[in-house]
This record gives sequence, C-alpha cells and structure tokens, in this order.
Amino acid sequence: MTRPEAGAGPARELRKRYSPADLGVFTPDEASRYVPRGDGDPQTDVVLAWELLYRLEPDLYDRLASAERLHPGVLGWLPRDADRIAEVGAGTGRLTLELIERARQVVAVEPAGPLRQILKRKLAAADHGNRARVVQGFFDQLPLPDDFADLVVACSAFTAAAGHGGEVGLAEMERVCRPGGCVAIIWPNNLRWLAARDYRYVSFPGPMSVEFGSCHEAAELAGIFYPGAADKVRRRGLRTVSFEVLGLNPPRDLAFKVLPQ
Ligand SMILES: C[S@@+](CC[C@H](N)C(=O)[O-])C[C@H]1O[C@@H](n2cnc3c(N)ncnc32)[C@H](O)[C@@H]1O
Repeated sequence: MTRPEAGAGPARELRKRYSPADLGVFTPDEASRYVPRGDGDPQTDVVLAWELLYRLEPDLYDRLASAERLHPGVLGWLPRDADRIAEVGAGTGRLTLELIERARQVVAVEPAGPLRQILKRKLAAADHGNRARVVQGFFDQLPLPDDFADLVVACSAFTAAAGHGGEVGLAEMERVCRPGGCVAIIWPNNLRWLAARDYRYVSFPGPMSVEFGSCHEAAELAGIFYPGAADKVRRRGLRTVSFEVLGLNPPRDLAFKVLPQ
C-alpha cells in the first residue's frame, strides 16, 4: 500500500500522537525490529508511529481498517477451498475473517498483542472463527513448519524493509508455503522489488471508497489519518469518501508467486 503519510509533511496528526517516551511499549523482540539502534522518534518516523498506534490505540486502528475495505476482486481471487492458510501481519482481521470462509485451518500470525486480542474477540463471535488460530510472530521468524500452507498471505503488512519483511521475511513466507502453493502480498507498496523476485501483479478496476460508520466517524478519522482531506470530509458531511479524495491508492491489488512443485 502507498499511504500519503509516506512523505514528510502528511501524517503529522498521527506522528504527533506519540513521542520517544512511548517506545517502552515494545517488547525486546519488537524493539529489535522497529528501533534496532534503540533511538527512534515517532514524531519524525511515521512507520514507527503506526507501530505505536497498534499497541497504544488498537481500537482506533481497528476503526480505520474496518472502513478501508478490500476490493471484492481481491477477495474473489483467493482460493475457496484451501486446506491451510497462513496469514502474516493479520492485525485485527480485515482479511482473516474472509480467510476462515475459505480454508479448513487458518493460522493468523500477528506481533502486536493488543491487535491479537481484538482479532481473537472477533473470531470468537464469527461463524467458522474456530478454524483460525492466532499466534505471535514476525515475518522474519514465522512459528510454522516448512511447507505448512497452501496459501501464505499478507495484507497491507509486508514491505521490503527488514523490520517489516524484507528479503528474510519473503524467504520465510516461501519456506512455510508448500510446493505448488501460493505466496500473496495484498495491497503491496513495493511492486518493482517484488517483480524482481518473480512475483506477478494483479489489479482490479473500478471506483473505491472508504466507508466510515457515520459522518462523525469520517470527520474524526480523516482528521487523524487523512489530514489533507479532512476539511472537505467535514464541510461536505461525507460518510463515504473515495480513495482518490483521500490521496491513497486503494486496496485493489496484489502480487503473487506460485511455488514450483
Ligand atoms: C496496516 S496493518 C494491516 C493489518 C491487517 N493485515 C489488515 O489488513 O487489516 C500492518 C500489520 O503488520 C503487522 N506487522 C508489523 N511488523 C510486522 C512484522 N515484522 N512481522 C509480521 N507482522 C508485522 C502489524 O502489527 C500490523 O498488524
């Protein structure tokens, strides 16, 4: 995914929420990946601010992810009758809740404890929720055996950076995938990097919008996550806002590789 906050100016509202004093929330395993030199500043590093959001305000993150729905073409592309699926960086389950309809067994790997708690609650309330097991883990150290799954997938989570996947993380996803199975990166932000590693690209057309629960919810979340569009959202009293207006590429695409038999 390419969020507008990748630049220096935007995402200021998210960055402003946290300070270096918050870094103590990371476990040692998390700190070794997100602040390897021990001295990050979420006020200037938006990637770090997102990681703090997951741990300090997980419900706020969940409200955002629930509004940013995946393109139906992406969901339709997924296998319908897999035996096992492994999802990495499952978050609060935007994709996981779709996967439990499509496999007999799903393992959802998620490093952030507060997101795992929300995901477990959602699964407990969902039909087929008992098909999923939620476990702690990272892209570069997946707690799963070789050749475990028919599909190994990540949605809006994998990047080429070492702390969020990288070379080692992609190799881990491929290790856990069975021969002839598929590794898929949904809403990728690093197409050329993935293409260089033999990943093919699919994108589904059509207009897409973020669907907030109410105008009030849209105004509040836009103020934090899409500050460039917040004024328009507020003035027009919008509840449904096109990704174009928000300046965010929509979750309409994926990169995948089918492993040799
Ligand atoms: C933008 S959220 C996406 C969550 C979920 N897949 C979704 O689409 O709603 C990114 C997720 O990646 C997870 N993540 C961050 N670093 C990770 C790592 N090194 N290994 C695995 N997951 C990671 C975060 O904890 C978070 O749940």
